[in-house]
Amino acid sequence: MYVPKNIKISQYLEDKAINSLHSSNHPLSQPEDEQPILQIWGRASLEGEVRISGAKNSALAIMAGVLLCSDECRLQNVPILVDVTRMEQILEALGVKLNRQGNILDVDASNIGKSQAPYDLVSQMRASFFVIGPLLTRLGVASVPLPGGCAIGARPVDLHVRGLQAMGADVCIEHGMVHACVRGRRSRLQGAKIYLDYPSVGATETLMMAATLAEGETIIENAAQEPEVEDLANFCRAMGAQISGAGTNTILISGVDRLHETDYSIIPDRIEAGTFLVAGAITDSEISLYPVIPEHLAPVIAKLQEIGTQIVTDAPNRLRVVPGALRATDIETLPYPGFPTDMQAQFMALLAIAEGNSVISETVFENRLRHVAELNRMGADIRVKGNHAIVKGVPRLLGAPVMATDLRASAALVLAGLAAEGKTIVQGLHHLDRGYDNLEGKLSQLGAKLRRVTPQTQTSAKSSPIGQPNSQLSVCTSQLSPHQ
Ligand code: EPU
Repeated sequence: MYVPKNIKISQYLEDKAINSLHSSNHPLSQPEDEQPILQIWGRASLEGEVRISGAKNSALAIMAGVLLCSDECRLQNVPILVDVTRMEQILEALGVKLNRQGNILDVDASNIGKSQAPYDLVSQMRASFFVIGPLLTRLGVASVPLPGGCAIGARPVDLHVRGLQAMGADVCIEHGMVHACVRGRRSRLQGAKIYLDYPSVGATETLMMAATLAEGETIIENAAQEPEVEDLANFCRAMGAQISGAGTNTILISGVDRLHETDYSIIPDRIEAGTFLVAGAITDSEISLYPVIPEHLAPVIAKLQEIGTQIVTDAPNRLRVVPGALRATDIETLPYPGFPTDMQAQFMALLAIAEGNSVISETVFENRLRHVAELNRMGADIRVKGNHAIVKGVPRLLGAPVMATDLRASAALVLAGLAAEGKTIVQGLHHLDRGYDNLEGKLSQLGAKLRRVTPQTQTSAKSSPIGQPNSQLSVCTSQLSPHQ
């Protein structure tokens, strides 16, 4: 058994015990025939306004960031999601005290008892790997399981590791575990100039967090410019970190000795907002969204306008979709400010019923076109060639049973179901619950006809009115995420 230096064997064994403790929380531990499904009766018009939740990808990074601070922090506008619950479980396993009241999360990371993140949780959610940066810079040692590949691609962590090594960490990867430690100089990372081969969101976040408590200045070049990176930087700055340039491709961090308490509100989720903009366009409905930061949605808004939908800014934080006849267009996913890969599947559902031929090129992840087969089951005409999908617009989609293959694919299938004739049944909802805060509740409120049922509750669920949240819904949701 390899146990990294600075970690006691008793602690190592205890962490292994935590791993097995958490294994029952995996949504797939639920028998397949008991997993909930979403029934959608398509072609209902939507109207009204929808409230956009806090950004999942900001929340997850910022929750890792609380490990940097030995004072208490309050996070506001935290979305209610399975991924957030998992991150809470990881923080708890490391010794962080948490208190959640709705969208407010109070965090006390004054006593981090462990430097090793539990395998079963990290393996379920890639974002949990981001704890490596804060743990290492605060404790001088961190062990985090390799997150492994996932449905959308291999997703290595080489850029995170190389950056930490440039800052003086010794890193070894053994038995699926990344062990990192800092020797000498009071176990403190050293500032460094780091050029990222690719503007990885996660690597930028890991290294920016690590640099906040390092000795000296760190420059991250070719950094990711996503709004969630900027949000994390703003959170760190609110705790006293010295960071400039976040949101551009060069970030400068001057390490400080310690960070202090803060009360921070997470930005609205641009991908959830984009999904609702597409919901308006695909159902030919006028709906409003708030709060949003329109500039974060610039590439999405530009494409919707090209496709024939108008997006009106009614107030600085409010957008309205005014639908129109849908026309084909081409899309290439790119790092921000390019078109987001996290909106690719939803736009494919929309372009499936637009007039003409579109080409969608996925350049960020190598395996993110698996929803094509499911959309084709609904009557779409899409062919995949390499990382391109050639979409021939069809006049209508037809409801069908479909299987979600990843988080954004599940949203695309729900959108397709809203536009389709007849009934669509979406399976694989554990993907949806990872990243959408009450999507079906929000859609119901707008007038969509849909409901969630588990097979054994299906008979009684049939008696509740379509489109109304019912008691079955909360039963299913709590089964999926015991800590919510
Ligand atoms: N990559 C490497 N080496 C690394 C890191 C990344 O080769 O060390 C590659 C990846 O394999 C991928 C590309 O770089 O091909 C982009 O990955 P990136 O690191 O930017 O993505 P991430 O940090 O793993 C975050 C979001 C994703 C979002 C991407 C791109 C979180 C928790 N996740 O992932 O969100 O798609 O950035 O914007 O922030 C989602 O919400 O559905 C989702 C997948």
